[in-house]
Amino acid sequence: LENGLARTPPMGWLSWERFRCNIDCVNDPDNCISENLYKAMADELVKGGYKDVGYEYVNIDDCWPLVNRDAKGFLVADPKRFPSGIKALADYVHSKGLKLGIYGDFGTKTCGGYPGSKFYMEQDANTFASWGIDSLKLDGCYSRIEDMPFGYPIMEFYLNQTGRPILYSCSWPAYTATPDYKAIANSCNIWRNYDDIQDSWDSVSGIVEFYGANKLNFSHIAGPGRFNDPDMLIIGNFGLSHNQQRYQMAMWAIMASPLYMSNDLRRMPEESKAILLNKNVIAINQDPLGVQGNRIIKQGDIEVWTRPLQGNSVGVLFSCIGGATTAQVKLALTNIGLTNPSGYNLTEVFEGRFVGIFKPNESLSISIDPYDVFLVKAAQL
Ligand code: GLA
Repeated sequence: LENGLARTPPMGWLSWERFRCNIDCVNDPDNCISENLYKAMADELVKGGYKDVGYEYVNIDDCWPLVNRDAKGFLVADPKRFPSGIKALADYVHSKGLKLGIYGDFGTKTCGGYPGSKFYMEQDANTFASWGIDSLKLDGCYSRIEDMPFGYPIMEFYLNQTGRPILYSCSWPAYTATPDYKAIANSCNIWRNYDDIQDSWDSVSGIVEFYGANKLNFSHIAGPGRFNDPDMLIIGNFGLSHNQQRYQMAMWAIMASPLYMSNDLRRMPEESKAILLNKNVIAINQDPLGVQGNRIIKQGDIEVWTRPLQGNSVGVLFSCIGGATTAQVKLALTNIGLTNPSGYNLTEVFEGRFVGIFKPNESLSISIDPYDVFLVKAAQL
């Protein structure tokens, strides 16, 4: 969507995977979906150094409103959990130099059973803009799938009419068997196209396999203003090993994916935090060309992905997605598409370590531990 937003994949935090639809503020005041939770995460984004490296959006997900609209049809934030209201929350988030996102649904109800925007699109777009909202995730539960191709653009139209820049995140392709990705990219800044991420390796690797197979031919649609969204980063939670967390960060960088963390920033393991704050990996994700990487080799547990970067550079990710022992990989640069006769300067990305200078016919030998990655930037000489 050409609305000036998401020129590179958006970065920030989103409540869903970690905090779900916990509305029990009586027994669990620190973790329930409430203004306190989003304020706390905004504080942590700043304090923890996340904002400094680009994490910007604080995104509310499902379960924020009352189950009924008011007498005039307006959405109402649950006054018990959001006593100051969304406008005040947006002011708070803005005062930290951050942006606030909210969640709605294209159908009659959200996936959690809260009011959807069907029949209320204009009113809801205006409400969100009047509150100072900067991003809308529009889910697709309780809707007619066949309405999506014209219905999602209607919300785009009304968001645009408000005059406020609002990043538009659509779940449209996630509900569609054969999505029209061109149409989706014209109307949405980012879009979910696969199952919800869960806190597990199975989930992460399943998503990556969907992107690697690219059967619906969506990877080339990505670019500035328009990105496929494989769902949240779950780094810092409970389900991934250290290597698997590095794997998710590196894969999301190569896939030009939105970097929306869903974790508890108030209690982050230091090594997870270091992965999320790695500036070199973030720079790959945020490369201005906005080209999404593709899987070019899959042999047993070994995969190789490449992503074109600015300045004739290429991001290359070698991964070992299983196995019990360290894998040895030896490949000539030509085999991974690095064919420029003058050769390449290779740098390992996480550590910023010089690997070597290689001609296309020379081979690179590396060892990769189970579930780990070797992420390199190849700069053409
Ligand atoms: C759907 C979405 C999730 C989350 C939940 C909320 O499943 O895909 O990301 O927003 O709804 O109910």
